[in-house]
Amino acid sequence: MKILLTGGRGMLGRTLRAELSEFEVIPTDLPEADITDEHGINEVIRDCAPDAVIHCAAMTAVDKCETERDLAYSLNALGSANVASACCRNGIRLIAISTDYVFDGASDRPYTEFDHAGGGHTVYGRSKFAGEEMIRHHCPNHVIARISWLYGAGGPSFVHTMLKLADGTRPELKVVSDQIGNPTSTLAVARKLREILNRPELTGTFHMTCEGEASWYDFAQEIFLLAGVSQKVLPCSTADFPRPAPRPANSRLEKMMLRLSGLAPMPDWRQALAEFLAKEFPEKGL
Ligand SMILES: NC(=O)c1ccc[n+]([C@@H]2O[C@H](COP(=O)([O-])OP(=O)(O)OC[C@H]3O[C@@H](n4cnc5c(N)ncnc54)[C@H](OP(=O)(O)O)[C@@H]3O)[C@@H](O)[C@H]2O)c1
Repeated sequence: MKILLTGGRGMLGRTLRAELSEFEVIPTDLPEADITDEHGINEVIRDCAPDAVIHCAAMTAVDKCETERDLAYSLNALGSANVASACCRNGIRLIAISTDYVFDGASDRPYTEFDHAGGGHTVYGRSKFAGEEMIRHHCPNHVIARISWLYGAGGPSFVHTMLKLADGTRPELKVVSDQIGNPTSTLAVARKLREILNRPELTGTFHMTCEGEASWYDFAQEIFLLAGVSQKVLPCSTADFPRPAPRPANSRLEKMMLRLSGLAPMPDWRQALAEFLAKEFPEKGL
């Protein structure tokens, strides 16, 4: 199977290239495959003639999206529409990556794929949700994979930031404890996407985050525990760290569509984190 990646040099794209080695993976990215260039991206996809496109390219800087709204919508909404149109026109299956930010985070339970998602309270979330809607409209043969709290080889990610901050110069670190979600490794996502690639009949929206839940505070504590780093961590509230883009309080995603499609559950987040740390930081002897 031949697979074209958009955003192939990003954090998820790099893991997909490494992990999906049984397929012919063609990574594309800026400047040669700009998703905002409707004709250009159509030509790239048409000339490559892959069996599937995995669409990772996006504007992912959540706070920057608040101040650069046009750019956010141009990439996350219109760029996704361009990729979806090119796939449909050329008879190619599209697997597009989306986010927990499409929900407003106000629910007191994990969101399923059948819950209303309007894009939440951030430009990032709304532009990604607009992109989802355009994909549904332009390309029926699609899978939208919503992921969250992502970390992967090379970063940047929360895991890399925490380990950098714990350099022995800070007696304590304050980490937010009133936002909960599903920390998820790019490797776990790549393995689940392999199963999706091997099930060409599957279409629709799938939540694809690791099992179990954590606050950022729990996540930080687990990172330090597994990495054998002695760093004091104190819980704090979202209000202590105001950000331009308001973070959802509840980012938990229920994987109902994996279950209903007979796919195996995602790994537990602690297990995925342990595997990642051992691979990414072998010098720590994990
Ligand atoms: N990271 C997370 O925590 C997270 C959570 C939930 C969902 N997601 C979603 O997962 C997907 C992958 O995320 P990631 O963390 O791998 O993102 P990333 O590291 O920011 O990678 C995105 C890639 O897209 C490229 N790109 C930007 N503008 C482009 C354009 N106009 N045309 C083509 N490529 C362009 C970027 O290039 P430059 O670096 O040169 O800009 C980068 O290589 C995204 O759809 C994101 O929304 C991520």
